[in-house]
Amino acid sequence: MADAEEGRVTLLATSGLIRRYAGLLAVDGVDLAVPEGGVHAVIGPNGAGKTTLFNLVSGLVAPSAGTIMFAGADVTRLAADRRARLGIARTFQNIRVFGAMTLLENALTGLHPLLTSSLVGIVARLPRFRREERQAVARAREALALVGLQAREGERAAALSYGDQRRLEIARAMAGGPRLLLLDEPAAGMNPAETVGLGALIRRIVDAGTTVLVVEHDMRFVMALSDSVTVLNFGRRIFSGPPAEARADPGVIEAYLGAKVAARLAAR
Ligand SMILES: Nc1ncnc2c1ncn2[C@@H]1O[C@H](COP(=O)(O)OP(=O)(O)OP(=O)(O)O)[C@@H](O)[C@H]1O
Ligand SMILES: [Mg+2]
Repeated sequence: MADAEEGRVTLLATSGLIRRYAGLLAVDGVDLAVPEGGVHAVIGPNGAGKTTLFNLVSGLVAPSAGTIMFAGADVTRLAADRRARLGIARTFQNIRVFGAMTLLENALTGLHPLLTSSLVGIVARLPRFRREERQAVARAREALALVGLQAREGERAAALSYGDQRRLEIARAMAGGPRLLLLDEPAAGMNPAETVGLGALIRRIVDAGTTVLVVEHDMRFVMALSDSVTVLNFGRRIFSGPPAEARADPGVIEAYLGAKVAARLAAR
């Protein structure tokens, strides 16, 4: 699919995407078009449906209605590991690293859905498996180098600072060389210096050819980094366009102010 105006390929497109939880529409008819290349942000107040949207795109939850196209193929009904193999990778809002495993082992888990050796081959350590294993280790090391953690590959993940655990999660997601990387609040819990480093890392990832879709509450970070912004509110898309326009959009301002006022009232 080509974007007529820019001549760019649409990497991810959702149409009429809906996810219902009991009576609640967590995602309510969202149309999203993400061109290949660059950083695209999804923002919105707490509970707006951002994480649910990522869960739908990565295949963790099934949509109640709507379609998801990735690189021109309909992936709406594909399992998460099949989507990973097509090039969709993600990190989680609540860090999911294996604390007792080393950094290298954590990065290797990012390659599991991509390995082709059968269990029999792995147990018997057939030559094909040994070759795959060597390649997997090399790719995991590259991913650790990308995020600047290569010198600590033998340490346990639990020894890392919170910010470094977030970087490790990005390494795991990047190990398979995805076309699309979904980052759910990567700057959460990071100090200002770590956040600056994260921005530089995302730039390197994009320059190397991976498209990034990021959910983030840090507005300065979003505005400085993103090529486009989509704003969700109560599951609905209320804005899509350049970051500078998002900031000036009356509907977006109201959604944020409304949420802040509501939070203040609730805290009384
Ligand atoms: N598994 C679930 N079961 C029931 N309700 C859910 C479930 N997951 C999400 N929701 C609800 O769907 C809505 C959207 O949640 P979601 O986590 O997608 O929001 P979010 O925009 O990521 O918010 P935050 O900024 O707080 O992370 C919320 O009202 C949430 O309570
Ligand atoms: Mg969320």
